[in-house]
Amino acid sequence: MLDQLEQLPPDPILGLSAACKADSNPDKVDLTVGVYMDESGNCPVFDAVKEAQRQVDEQEVTKAYTAAAGDESFNRGMRELVLGVGSTALGDNRVSSIQTPGGCGALRIGAEIIYAAAPRSRVWVSDPTWPVHIPLLGSVGLQFETYRYYDPASHGVNFDGMVQDLKKASAGDVVLLHGCCHNPCGADLTLAQWGQVADMAQQQGFIPFVDIAYQGLGDGLDEDAAGLRLLVERLPEVIVAASCSKNMGLYRERTGVSMFVCQNEANAQALLSQAMVAARRVYSMPPAHGALLAGKILSDDVLGTQWRAELVAACGRINGLRGTLRQKLEAASGHDFGFIEREKGMFSFLGLSPEQAKRLREEHSVYMLDSSRINVAGTNSSNVDYLAGAVATVLNG
Ligand code: LMR
Repeated sequence: MLDQLEQLPPDPILGLSAACKADSNPDKVDLTVGVYMDESGNCPVFDAVKEAQRQVDEQEVTKAYTAAAGDESFNRGMRELVLGVGSTALGDNRVSSIQTPGGCGALRIGAEIIYAAAPRSRVWVSDPTWPVHIPLLGSVGLQFETYRYYDPASHGVNFDGMVQDLKKASAGDVVLLHGCCHNPCGADLTLAQWGQVADMAQQQGFIPFVDIAYQGLGDGLDEDAAGLRLLVERLPEVIVAASCSKNMGLYRERTGVSMFVCQNEANAQALLSQAMVAARRVYSMPPAHGALLAGKILSDDVLGTQWRAELVAACGRINGLRGTLRQKLEAASGHDFGFIEREKGMFSFLGLSPEQAKRLREEHSVYMLDSSRINVAGTNSSNVDYLAGAVATVLNG
């Protein structure tokens, strides 16, 4: 039976990251997977996380199963972090949440809920979107439609195209939005544009499903959540997938949360029961460790302040790298890379063809996705000149 299954190609993101790790060129540059890297090219553990880990280890008395909904101090902390402490939806107790295995688990539970409520629901995804959105939501059985989003010519959001396409979304449909730091393009909506999306959702009845995996890596924790919070203030129902992978550096701990903003408290409780049954069906209960660390950080003033300062520094460093990268690329190539400074978070498209991305890999050991998505946080003062020179060679040569 098993011999019928054929070998599949490597994952378009993780496969390239593995290929880069295996490359013996000492000048290689890894701009593939979206992890934050420091000046020496390491993905560091936050000091606040190390201290939380010390405290959790000291206090831990059991490894018995965790609750299906996860750790309550984590859930509460995440609801407040994402929606804001003063959120009226939170005050009205009409938000429920469930701890999940990473942001992927949060997306999956969100998709299970959508399918349970409306199996024929169409999920509208941006063109482009994070490639894993499609198998994660599609394997539940949901159908997709695409809305225009990124305009390669202007390196910005094609908002008119987005609005035109979303006019076709109707009640019972779901619109998947990137809360901030769009993956893969880095081009985000303005607050006024979020307002227009809220108007359309109100008029047409579709539900926003917001993936906010990169909160805190664009302009700051509150600034990055402003669009989502506007939707939550104005709409009766919103689904959210959030993650501590990036903003707490808890990637391998698989620490995420699904949130359901509902019309009232009874609906929110019903949704929690649905989410727990969905989790039981797929993975039973979430891993405990990462959420214990995040829950501690979010509920302890000292650790929370330390973590926020570390995150501000990481975010500031990424924005600084955007400026340096733009300058080096422009100097080396003579092309305009001003868009790199306008975009947010870890990612930007360099605007290269798949062939040029392949040449960079094969001739210069510079690894980016075939779409020319780069992880800006993979650049540093030791590799940026080499990178700019290599990009100039394939662009102009
Ligand atoms: C990325 O887009 O590189 C990250 O979200 C990591 C992943 O799982 O793909």
